[in-house]
Amino acid sequence: MTKPSDVFTLKNSNNVEVAFIARGGQIVSIKVPNAQGEVADVVIGYETVEEALAGDAYYGALCGRYANRIVKGQFELNGEQFQLDVNNGPNHLHGGVDGFNLRVWDVEAITLPKFAQAYQLTLVSPNGDQKYPGELTVKVVYGLTNDNEFVIEYDAASTKDTIINLTSHAYFNLEGAGTGTIADHQLTINADKFTPIDGEIGTVTGEIADVKETAMDFVTGKAINEALVADCPQVKLVDGIDHNFVINGFDGTLKLAARLEHAASGRAMEVYTDQPGIQMYTGSHFDGSEKGKLGAPIEKWAGLAMETQIFPDSPNKENFPNAVLKAGEKYTHTCVYKFI
Ligand code: BGC
Repeated sequence: MTKPSDVFTLKNSNNVEVAFIARGGQIVSIKVPNAQGEVADVVIGYETVEEALAGDAYYGALCGRYANRIVKGQFELNGEQFQLDVNNGPNHLHGGVDGFNLRVWDVEAITLPKFAQAYQLTLVSPNGDQKYPGELTVKVVYGLTNDNEFVIEYDAASTKDTIINLTSHAYFNLEGAGTGTIADHQLTINADKFTPIDGEIGTVTGEIADVKETAMDFVTGKAINEALVADCPQVKLVDGIDHNFVINGFDGTLKLAARLEHAASGRAMEVYTDQPGIQMYTGSHFDGSEKGKLGAPIEKWAGLAMETQIFPDSPNKENFPNAVLKAGEKYTHTCVYKFI
């Protein structure tokens, strides 16, 4: 059995190094060299494992059973009404008060030819866990290739019909955690549409809107700051970006979802996924009260979370992708963070 504080490290031939702990499968560092060989830790968080265990448990963690929000924690499945925890204003967030980010995952090293190194993380969530139906067995592979791809492969099955939406919650800063904000990063999102939010509902309205002529238009790429300072009601609602983007051409195969670049430090990354959506979150709730890496306070906009997933509140929105996992069927999801 793994202990919460057990640390596991993946390394490849280019000195890229990913470290995570068993609690939450939480990624605690991703060290990436630039062309000059200067290494930066590109995920925000804490200096030590002790601080990570005591601090914000969403940094870099696996989220489930339903990542993102479900309005009022309610959904209907096969004619039955379910009431989940309400742990975020009026809504259910990231699987509830005891989400997968707080669980101790069983971790074992595995060998797969495509990966320089890989681990499999396993969690069995009992029937009724956080009031979700079905015993859910989740397997997640963290793999690192020699092409600098950090790959996350999710696989889950349930004993009863249920709903599911798993994701990874790392916040990236390509200049390096603790060096400043992501306002000066260039972001391209392969999404002509996004799902607007409403202050009163606390999440998506159900509308699928064009990004064109809004601050959410990252189709051809722009500095994140352009959106952060935009006179745009959607930005003002969350003091930044906390929105789900609809990835163009979703067909269940891997697509480029986004590209993040930091010109001055010479680092870039691309995100690929087979999921229909990606939640972009600029970390607007950070207020500098916590000490992070390099001893620097974790400030507003310190990192960008790029969470590949199904859309928020899909179980209650008929026009959103399906989040139902039928008993005996398989949920799969691949997310690739490729460092360039
Ligand atoms: C959500 C934010 C939330 C954060 C919590 C993100 O995935 O989009 O609204 O505050 O998780 O860490």
